[in-house]
Amino acid sequence: MQKLKWGMIGGGEGSQIGPAHRLGALADGHFELAAGALDHRPEVGREYAQRLGVAADRAYGDWTEMLQGEKNRDDRIDLVTVATPNSTHFEITKAFLEAGFNVLCEKPMTMTVEEGEEIVRVVEKTGKICAVNYCYSAYPMVRQARAMVQNGEIGSVRLVVTAFSHGHHGDATDADNPRVRWRYDPEMAGVSGQFADCGIHALHMASFICNDEVSTLSADFASTIPSRVLEDDAMVNFRMDGGTVGRLWTSSVAIGRQHGFEIQVFGETGGLRWASEQPNQLIYTPVGGRTQIIEKGEGGLHEDAQRLSRVAIAHPEGFPLAVANIYCDLADAIRGETRDGLPNAADGVRSMAAVHTAVASAKNGGVWMDARPSIFR
Ligand code: NAI
Repeated sequence: MQKLKWGMIGGGEGSQIGPAHRLGALADGHFELAAGALDHRPEVGREYAQRLGVAADRAYGDWTEMLQGEKNRDDRIDLVTVATPNSTHFEITKAFLEAGFNVLCEKPMTMTVEEGEEIVRVVEKTGKICAVNYCYSAYPMVRQARAMVQNGEIGSVRLVVTAFSHGHHGDATDADNPRVRWRYDPEMAGVSGQFADCGIHALHMASFICNDEVSTLSADFASTIPSRVLEDDAMVNFRMDGGTVGRLWTSSVAIGRQHGFEIQVFGETGGLRWASEQPNQLIYTPVGGRTQIIEKGEGGLHEDAQRLSRVAIAHPEGFPLAVANIYCDLADAIRGETRDGLPNAADGVRSMAAVHTAVASAKNGGVWMDARPSIFR
């Protein structure tokens, strides 16, 4: 099968997420890196793209140049990944969708709900794919959990409890380090710090596994390091459309926790537990029965968990291959085979609505509020 042509904006040398995208996109042979505007410094970006094998005429200095350059080519890219800082996602994603490109946008998809709704409208109008990189949802054992819930194996879900709490910004003596400080500065980060950065992964995961959407929420935000304007810790209670009760804790000052992303789903006839630091194991307890470890790669897994696991049992697959699973599903979607579960623009705007609702709720003493974007009310 012919490889699809892939382009990247942001994710330059030394960036945090760039390498995971390159490992992920290239892992299964679906894509080749054909174009890039990889860095905010044009010359640095051009040079790095060429070092990665991009032809000189497709190693662009910035995204507008890339859009112009790719638009009229017969061999234009089939997909562009947007892995730049958050405040640029909306205009880049919108411009590429409108020019007829498929997009994988990093989270958060936009800064405002209105921008998110606009992206949903552009997707409807253009018929192009806009995926959002909620890549944890593509771990095989997360897909197993989702399939078990869908299959009724734990009954109707009563409760979902999730946390994405780490301690990497917990050192007050490092709070003024520019690499840390911007995340809690509204000028740079927007309305929310930790919840918009990590909390939305956890909230998306709750919706993803439960196959349900967040309808209302109540939030308590704290800036535990006083110089911070935005929150570094948040507790969010929520309810889903189907009545499931949700609890979410996200923190960046939980010293001793490393990645700290985990989820438990409690149904009427069983419970499930998954953690990103032990991604190959899904812990399952049927009501009145023994706790079992379901292992990635063992027999009898649901189809999606088997399909997205390509390393033998007991060998770790890890984060870049979870990102690769997003790219596998995208390659299928571009070739016309739609995959259930690929995070999309609707997920992106729901996250933004949750962020803005949580900010408003926290400012108002934790009042319960409608967390849905207006287009989904
Ligand atoms: P970073 O600051 O480490 O790297 C950003 C890269 O984008 C740099 O190479 C920079 O030169 C480049 N860049 C900046 N502005 C640009 C522009 N206008 N045009 C082209 N290139 C530009 O940032 P990081 O941590 O890699 O984050 C990037 C995005 O990825 C953020 O939106 C972040 O939320 C998201 N992210 C997602 C993760 C996930 O689990 N899905 C994990 C980490 C980050």
